[in-house]
Parts: sequence; C-alpha cells; structure tokens
Amino acid sequence: MKCRINKKNCKVFLDFGKMPIANGFLKKREFKNEYFFPMKVGFNKSLSLFQLYKNPNPKKMFNKNYPFYTSSSKSMILHFKKYAQWIKKKLNKKSSILEIGSNDGTFLLNFKKYYHLGFEPSKSVHNVAIKNNVKSKNKFFNLKNIDFLIKKKIKFDVIVGSNVICHIPNQNDLIKSMNKLLKKRGEIIFEEPYLGSMYDKVSYDQIYDEHIFMFSATSINKIYKLHGLKLIDVLPQKTHGGSMRYVITKNTNAKITKRLKKIFIKEKKKNVDTLKGCYIFKKNVENSKKKLLKKLNEMKKKNLKICGYGATSKSTTILNYCKIGPDMIDLIFDTTKDKINKFSPGMHIPIRNYKYFAESNYKNIFLFAWNHKKEILKKEKYRKNCQWFSHLN
Ligand code: TMP
Repeated sequence: MKCRINKKNCKVFLDFGKMPIANGFLKKREFKNEYFFPMKVGFNKSLSLFQLYKNPNPKKMFNKNYPFYTSSSKSMILHFKKYAQWIKKKLNKKSSILEIGSNDGTFLLNFKKYYHLGFEPSKSVHNVAIKNNVKSKNKFFNLKNIDFLIKKKIKFDVIVGSNVICHIPNQNDLIKSMNKLLKKRGEIIFEEPYLGSMYDKVSYDQIYDEHIFMFSATSINKIYKLHGLKLIDVLPQKTHGGSMRYVITKNTNAKITKRLKKIFIKEKKKNVDTLKGCYIFKKNVENSKKKLLKKLNEMKKKNLKICGYGATSKSTTILNYCKIGPDMIDLIFDTTKDKINKFSPGMHIPIRNYKYFAESNYKNIFLFAWNHKKEILKKEKYRKNCQWFSHLN
C-alpha cells in the first residue's frame, strides 16, 4: 500500500510555509535552536487520502515534554465516558480492550474492570495514567513493540484509538499490528478529525505536524480493504471541531450500515474523495487568511488590545501561516502547566496562566480553542461586552 506520498501517487496542492512543532511551546533560550519543517499538503488520488507531504519524526513530538493532557477538557472527559458506555454494550465481563495513544488514561479509566492495556509513547502523559492505575506501556504502538503480546498470544476484543491514528506515519505497520492483535470477531474502533468537517468549516488549523493524515470514510474504506479488513459503520462526532468514529471488522461479509452508505454518497457529492475538493479547500484557506489579517489589522488601527484564549496545537498553524505575532496578540491564556510562562511555537507569543484572565481587561479575545467554545463561553459568561472571535467567523 502506498500511504506515503511519492511523486507518482500524490499531488501536493497547498504550501503553508515553514512550521514549528505545533505543541513545541518553548522558553526564550530555546528560540535559536527551534525546529521547523516545510508544511506542504498533498492528496493521494488512488486512496482518496489527504496527507502531509513531509512530517517530522514522531519522536520530536511524542516524548517527555508532550503537553497535551486529554483530561484538560471537561467536555472531553464526558465524551470519553459516553464513548466508553457505547463500547461496553459490545463487551462481556471477559472482554479485553487495547487503546493506542492512551494519553493520561482518561478513556481507559472507564475500563478498569476489564482486561485493558494502553500504548502511550509520551512519558509526561503516560506517568499520569500510571498514577491513575491504568495499565500503560510507555511505547509507540508498532509491530516491534507488540511482540511481547504476540509471544503471549494475547488478543483483544476491541482496539480503540482517538485522535491518534492520523498521527502514525506508517499506516501499513499500524494496520498489520492491529490485525495481529484483534480477535476474529473483534472490532477496531477509532475517532479522528474528519476531512469533510474541515472542508465545511475551513478549519485549516486541523493541519499540523501531528495530523499526518486527514481521513474520510472513503479513504478509510480503501486503506483497510487493502489489508483484508472492512469498514462497516461511521458515526459523526462533534469533538475536535468535527470528527468521525470508524468501526472496522475482520468479517468481510459483514453488512455496512445505512449511515455509512449515506456518508459515502455525501463525500462524493462534496468532492471529499477527489482532488477537486482539495483545490476548493485551498482557495477557501487563502481567503480565510486574508479575512483574518484584515480583521486584525483593523483592530490594531483602533489600538485595541487583543489576547488569545487556549494555546492550542491548532493555533500554531494559524499564527505561523498568517504570521501573527506578539505585535498583534499580546499573550495567550491557558490552563496547561507545561505551556504556562513559555512562548508559542514559531511566532513566540507569551503564554500566561489562565488564572490571570479574570482580572485582565481584554475585550477582544481570539478563541484558539474554538472547538471548546460551548464549554468556554459558559465558564466565561460573567465577562461582559467582549468580542470573542476566531479565524472561523
Ligand atoms: P488542543 O486544542 O491542542 O487540545 O489544546 C487545547 C488547549 O486549550 C489546552 O492547552 C488547554 C486549553 N484550554 C484552556 O485554557 N481553557 C479551557 O477551558 C479549555 C477547554 C482548554
């Protein structure tokens, strides 16, 4: 399978310029050695696969400094609780579950009564999972690292992943590994940011080093078919600004759901499965950049002070692509201790502790964590006469 881009099967159609690591929040003394990579986006026509042209080595992102904690969002904790309840309907007492990229254990905490195991390469978040008594291996999930399970003949009823499948450069190795560990009647279930939602919202900030692939039902169907697996269902999700849950089985005779049939039709209609959709998206991205810069420049002409809310990984793409620095946005408030008192990757906007937000008098707030808008605006409803905005409106 040619999941990697090469000149033959993949067309580069969009260039974001040089980008730092999206979660690479850094100290001043680290500015001079900051790592950048050329962020270009391409489309593999035969697999209908939207992907980065080049991606940094995952070890650069997923290590002891990885600052993304699933438990930092209340709505995500709730989402994983509901998701777990949905999965539990498929299980019995003896069932086993494996999670790829189990982060701080937020999801597996719901499966403590079952035989469970998580693979999490980032030490920072893995340590939290261990503290919470969640079984976690501090390793990347790949053929080499699952050898100990194969030797012990351990297989799983459900293999899950959330916002992690798109992080893995070698999809062949990943799918082979999952296939080896999946029981005959087992299911692979994962949720990933959805290409169709990104096109609809023009949320190009979904594209960054960690998101090597942006999947659709069409692409997942084609990729897993190559490995003798079958996509049988999809469930659209609101998380991460629009995601899709995919359900895959070994049973190639299994029927596909009506829901999936409808999504295939919708993806065709909206050009999610062809290069044409990429070119429409590219135009929309360029227009979005112009609109945002116009808005910010007008605010600056009026001498308005602007702050950011949520030092998200996504914000790294917006800030670096649009070249927005501390001359435009004074600082970004955030709750994550590993980001506070550091600077944003590439554009070096200071990150400040969220606890000072309430006492600050910023009225113009760039909501970088736009995917948590509901949760945040509820929390901040005491704050009157503010303009909350993002590149999406
Ligand atoms: P992410 O989009 O890369 O997951 O980052 C979300 C960031 O937003 C994370 O650093 C925590 C921060 N955040 C807040 O500061 N306040 C909030 O209310 C929420 C939901 C997130």
